[in-house]
Amino acid sequence: MGIIAAREGRCARPETASMSIPRVDGERLWSRLMAMAQIGATPKGGCNRQALTDGDLAGRELFARWARAAGCTVRVDAIGNLFAHRRGRAASSPAVLIGSHLDTQPTGGKFDGVYGVLGGLEVLETLNDRGLETERPLELAVWCNEEGCRFPAAMMGSAVWAGRMPLEAAYALTDRSGASVRGELERLGIDLKAPLERQPLAAALELHIEQGPVLEQRAKRIGIITGVQHMSRHEVTVLGQEAHAGPTPMEMRRDPIRVLADLLPRLYALTAAHGPQAKFTVGIIETFPGSPNTVPGRLRFTVDLRHPDLESYRALRAEAEREVAAALARHRLEGGIECVWQAPGVVFDAGCIAAVRDAAAALELDALEMVSGAGHDSVNVAAVAPTAMIFVPCAQGLSHNEAESASPADVENGANVLLNAVLKLANT
Ligand code: HGY
Ligand code: MN
Ligand code: MN
Repeated sequence: MGIIAAREGRCARPETASMSIPRVDGERLWSRLMAMAQIGATPKGGCNRQALTDGDLAGRELFARWARAAGCTVRVDAIGNLFAHRRGRAASSPAVLIGSHLDTQPTGGKFDGVYGVLGGLEVLETLNDRGLETERPLELAVWCNEEGCRFPAAMMGSAVWAGRMPLEAAYALTDRSGASVRGELERLGIDLKAPLERQPLAAALELHIEQGPVLEQRAKRIGIITGVQHMSRHEVTVLGQEAHAGPTPMEMRRDPIRVLADLLPRLYALTAAHGPQAKFTVGIIETFPGSPNTVPGRLRFTVDLRHPDLESYRALRAEAEREVAAALARHRLEGGIECVWQAPGVVFDAGCIAAVRDAAAALELDALEMVSGAGHDSVNVAAVAPTAMIFVPCAQGLSHNEAESASPADVENGANVLLNAVLKLANT
């Protein structure tokens, strides 16, 4: 049912049971998404609020203002995770956690991460509007550096919070300018002596756009997310020899680009051999010294590998490593491939999945059970609490792109599923 029809009472269909269950204020949610999108807005309509930049701080501060105005207490932990707390009747009982991230890719969109944070805030606002107090407290999380683009560890804040990444390792991460997570947290005024406690949780839910085309192609309104695929990030280094681009004969060169040219078709071919679910991405290619008229002395490129099946994922990694070694040998150059980050796949909690499934059914929203292709902080949360996710479609499945978009109706539908799943989990 569209927003306008519901709001003006012109129901698209006769009165049904779904008309009686709690619903969010889709217009308030949409207006907040658009207000947040103004921070770090890019000329092509996207957002650039990379982790721990001034833009990220501005987004966090806007969120914190809204959360405090909604009656939440707000705290920030020692790795920059921000939590808005809403009391429950059983104030000291394990909470239900919702939320996502506000940091974006360099050419990110208006919805990746932000939708889960502001959809979570809309749930709290709706509970306030209806005077509903849940049995359990609610924690609305804004995880620090989910994207892992500026600082090269995705889902960093939630990994530290879940005890899956040492705090000092996170602090030591640096961006390409050499700025560290520690230095940037301090620059933004975040207290590194703040507690890094993990609040006891009864359940956790994360609302997110799908970031792929499946829901749209299958004309489904809701994704009931049963898990996240296996993924890892690798760095390939090839050492050559700087030389003059002019007089140096081709056969005398120790040119690392030869290895790249040899290797890429083989890596795409081995990925294809593992079927359509196998994913291979080269996101960064760098040469040193990076001069147009000097044969590079060094080549570095990133390789992102993913697969939902563990055996296929392991084979993908092993074959990629073999191909890199073979290509270096063929060209008699030194170098190697190193895994710099990984997130083993997770299977989410049956009880949380059921809460999502039941909420979508109660709202009469056509839903599809699926595994997430993208990584999310819920991967780390699931290590310490029963967790599941909710997806809504995004246009052409596009994300990590300034054209990323979702419809107001889908945005409202997802938040309604979150609201009703939270009501179930927070009152049991
Ligand atoms: O890489 C991912 O899947 C996520 O966007 N960090
Ligand atoms: Mn995300
Ligand atoms: Mn993302």
